[in-house]
Amino acid sequence: MGSIAYINGELLPIDQASVNIEDRGYQFGDGIYEVVVSYNGSLFKLDAHLERLKRSAEVINLEINHSITEIRDICQKVFLKSKLDFASLYIQVTRGVSPRQHNIPENYEPNLIITVREKPEPAEMVKAVTAEDLRWKKCCVKTTNLLPNVLAKRYAHDSGCDEAILIREGNLMEGTSTNIFLVKDGVVLTPPADDYILEGITRNTVLNLIEERGYSSKVRYIKAQELFSADEVFLTGTYVEVMPVVEIDGVTINGGKPGPYTKTLREDYRNLLAP
Ligand code: PDD
Repeated sequence: MGSIAYINGELLPIDQASVNIEDRGYQFGDGIYEVVVSYNGSLFKLDAHLERLKRSAEVINLEINHSITEIRDICQKVFLKSKLDFASLYIQVTRGVSPRQHNIPENYEPNLIITVREKPEPAEMVKAVTAEDLRWKKCCVKTTNLLPNVLAKRYAHDSGCDEAILIREGNLMEGTSTNIFLVKDGVVLTPPADDYILEGITRNTVLNLIEERGYSSKVRYIKAQELFSADEVFLTGTYVEVMPVVEIDGVTINGGKPGPYTKTLREDYRNLLAP
């Protein structure tokens, strides 16, 4: 069937799906989302993504009118209907439709939408720029309110790069839609999953792979300048998997090539996806 959308119980082609203009997601960015991809016909880490959806909902007091089990069943149903083996599933829950007012209505009916389309293939490596992190203090929530992220991504593209690495008070946070890792003197570093970054499902999977490999690693705040003396830098994310960064702000990393740690972890991650 290809690209399809699910809206509150209804399945239809994406281009025929629409939502009410008074949806609070549309008017206020009052919503949360997840992106899950499939490999060889199975949704990768779906449960971890749905657990994070639940955590996001809790932080913004959004009462989803479906249990996580129900959402899991709907995701599987919609995914199977698409008949895509390598799919990208977008799940969004907003605080529903009501006449526009900032205050959250007493009774609201959340809108659950899911779209499924073909999964994009990740690049081999990317270039990045650094940018000031202009987001709020709850970046742990996967909110649809993504304006600072999209502006920073645009800045990256305007600079001939693929991703912007966000800096808050001199520390590296994450990419606009990815988490960040550095390798320095044989130690793999990544910032802590506090309120200021999204705790990536791929990040956590890669941290497990690092442990299985027996690599030294440290989860700690990382100064922006450490980027430029790193031996290797890579990004992680549902779409990019493990992505080597070979240039940052015009400075070449590891001679412009993916380094050995990055290559090994990328392979290990790929092996998990298609065992
Ligand atoms: N983005 N940090 C941010 C700000 C993100 O938006 C994402 C994911 C990640 C990586 O998380 P994960 O490994 O769970 O995909 C980190 C998705 C893919 C998106 O917005 O499309």
